[in-house]
Amino acid sequence: MKMYDIIQKKKKGQALSDHEIEFFIKGYTDGSIPDYQASALLMAICFMGMTDEETVTLTNAMADSGDRVDLSCFGNLSADKHSTGGVGDKTSLIVAPIVASLGGKVTKMSGRGLGHTGGTVDKLESIPGYRVNLTPEEFLSQVEKVGMAVVGQSGNLTPADKKLYALRDVTATVDNIPLITSSIMSKKLAAGSHNIVLDVKVGSGAFMKTPDEATELAQKMVKIGKDCNRNMAALITNMDIPLGNNVGNSLEVVEAIRVLKGELKNDLYEVCVALATTMVELIFSLQRNEAEQKVKNAIESGDAFRKMKEWINAQGGNADYIENTDLFEQSKYSLTVKSVKEGYISSMNVEKIGMTAVTLGAGRRVATDTIDYSAGIIIHKKTGEYVKENQDLCTLYSNNNSSLKEAEKQYLEAVSISSNRSETNPLIYDIIK
Ligand code: URA
Repeated sequence: MKMYDIIQKKKKGQALSDHEIEFFIKGYTDGSIPDYQASALLMAICFMGMTDEETVTLTNAMADSGDRVDLSCFGNLSADKHSTGGVGDKTSLIVAPIVASLGGKVTKMSGRGLGHTGGTVDKLESIPGYRVNLTPEEFLSQVEKVGMAVVGQSGNLTPADKKLYALRDVTATVDNIPLITSSIMSKKLAAGSHNIVLDVKVGSGAFMKTPDEATELAQKMVKIGKDCNRNMAALITNMDIPLGNNVGNSLEVVEAIRVLKGELKNDLYEVCVALATTMVELIFSLQRNEAEQKVKNAIESGDAFRKMKEWINAQGGNADYIENTDLFEQSKYSLTVKSVKEGYISSMNVEKIGMTAVTLGAGRRVATDTIDYSAGIIIHKKTGEYVKENQDLCTLYSNNNSSLKEAEKQYLEAVSISSNRSETNPLIYDIIK
């Protein structure tokens, strides 16, 4: 079999056989197929698409490219969530302790920030001492004792996705439904959880720009998971507005803590309640109303917040920071961005807002960049809200004074203000099961 023929076949729009897809994944993972041939095939897939059968084969081949985690010791209680990526998306920090406090076993492997989107692992590393790498034994024993662990993608899990994702990132082949489906679902299947809830983001800050595209992606991922005997659900949620008000690593941890303490009942709270409810529904086969009541009680009773402290402490983090968030390092410099005119905020370009946070030091431009954990943005006004001229739009934080002016310019370009109040899109478009 020759890679050249496989590229040629896909270029003509023909479906690849199982054998051809498996040959590609094996060869690319072991290095016998070079980047230039893999890039050509990825681009051909972007133009010609893949059938559902091809997508399933690709997903399984990628899941089998490395180890699979065995979580059978937790029976049907193991649970995982995955977001397709957004700005201000700190839902894992909130949903995981809620579900663990209710008896679920949350086994979460998270990523780092990518482009304009933040990553859970970077956020957790803003807590002094937090260990994102646990040995497999430590991981399982913590989930057994505490009910949850959140670690980075370590070990030999889906090496095919690691290589392919890096290649897609630099060849403009990320935003393709079969490729995203196989990337996410191969990781979820290899990570072993029985219950999987996906948060498919839609809007200016997401890979999927329209609800139709997001629905197609969600349906495909749910189907593949079900075909592999997992309990599956996907929420389609809004990423036309950053989620919550804080963007940046320790700033996001602080906002997550406030939601878990029951102090904040904002859009972030609502999305987290919906995600946690769906997880609890799947794990314990409950009616939605009952699951939602349990989730809300977990917050009100303080159980979910106590679970967060227990988790952070178990994973080496200094839980004093969770109790008293004033301990987090504060940025040396800040700048409040003022509105240049009066009117309603009609839209926010979320991708640009994510890049503003990167400018401030909260994310990486290249993989070797170091992160300024205290850098980021606190947003004071969001889409649909009214602002007067010179009123505060947001506050920017950084340890690099010279980044503030550029970030201010970027932020102002990202926010549109108009005299008419426009309709805002729903926060949760749909739940697909
Ligand atoms: N997240 C992933 O893990 N993979 C993709 O392809 C896109 C988002």
